[in-house]
Amino acid sequence: MGQSVLEIGLGYGSVTRRLSRYTDQVVALDIAPGPVGFAAATTDRTGCVRGSALALPFADATLDNVVAIGSLHHTGNMELAFRECMRVLRPGGRLIAMVYNRYSYKRWIVSPIATLRSVIAELRGETNQGAGGVSRRVSWFWDRSPDGSAPPHTEFATQDQIRRLLGGSTNVSITSVNVDNPNDLLPQCMQRLKFDGIRLHFLNSLLSRHAGLDLYITAEK
Ligand SMILES: C[S@@+](CC[C@H](N)C(=O)[O-])C[C@H]1O[C@@H](n2cnc3c(N)ncnc32)[C@H](O)[C@@H]1O
Repeated sequence: MGQSVLEIGLGYGSVTRRLSRYTDQVVALDIAPGPVGFAAATTDRTGCVRGSALALPFADATLDNVVAIGSLHHTGNMELAFRECMRVLRPGGRLIAMVYNRYSYKRWIVSPIATLRSVIAELRGETNQGAGGVSRRVSWFWDRSPDGSAPPHTEFATQDQIRRLLGGSTNVSITSVNVDNPNDLLPQCMQRLKFDGIRLHFLNSLLSRHAGLDLYITAEK
C-alpha cells in the first residue's frame, strides 16, 4: 500500500503497528485519548491524533487510503462515518473497512426477532433501520472488554446498506468472514453433540462465507 493512510479507530493499535511497517505516511485517529496515546507510544513513524470519525479533521479529497477495522459501527452514526471516509479520499483513493454483519449467524441466534424485522424492513426498502444501534446487552455480548464494560454504541450493517452508501464508488467488494467456535453457541443439553474435525471445519467455512460475524469492505472512490 503506498501513499497516505488514515486509520480510524485504533483500539489496542494492532492494525496501526502493521500499517506503520509499510509506510511512514500513516495518521492514526481515535476519539478516545487512551488508544491515541497507546499508538503514539508503540509506533515511531506514525502521526497520532484525537478526532472523530463523524467530523474528520481533513479537507475533502486529500487522502490516498482510509482504513477502519471494527470502528465505524461504534461511532454513533455509521452511515455518516462512511460518508466522512469517502469525503476525505481523493478520487481513486481506497477505503478498507470492517463492520459487524447484521445478518451473521450469531445475530440470528442472539436476536432472532430483531434480525427478522430487519430483513423485512430492508425488503420493504426502509433504509435507515439500525441507525439507533443495538441494546447494551447485545453490545456487551459482542464486545465486552476484560473489565466487563461494553462500547457505548454498536450498529450492525447489511451488505445492501453498504452498497447503497458506497453508491458512487467503484470496485466495491464486501466479504462475509469470521466465526466464533460454534460449540460455544450450543445449549448445555446439546454439548454432547460437539462439532469437531471435519464437521467443524465445514460448518465454519459455510457460516463464515454466508453469515460471518464481520463484513470486510474495499472500495475505490
Ligand atoms: C474495537 S476498537 C478498534 C480496533 C482496532 N481497529 C483493531 O482492529 O485492533 C474501536 C475503536 O473505535 C474508536 N471510536 C469509537 N467511536 C469513534 C469515533 N467517533 N471516532 C473515532 N474513533 C472512534 C474507539 O475509541 C476504539 O478505539
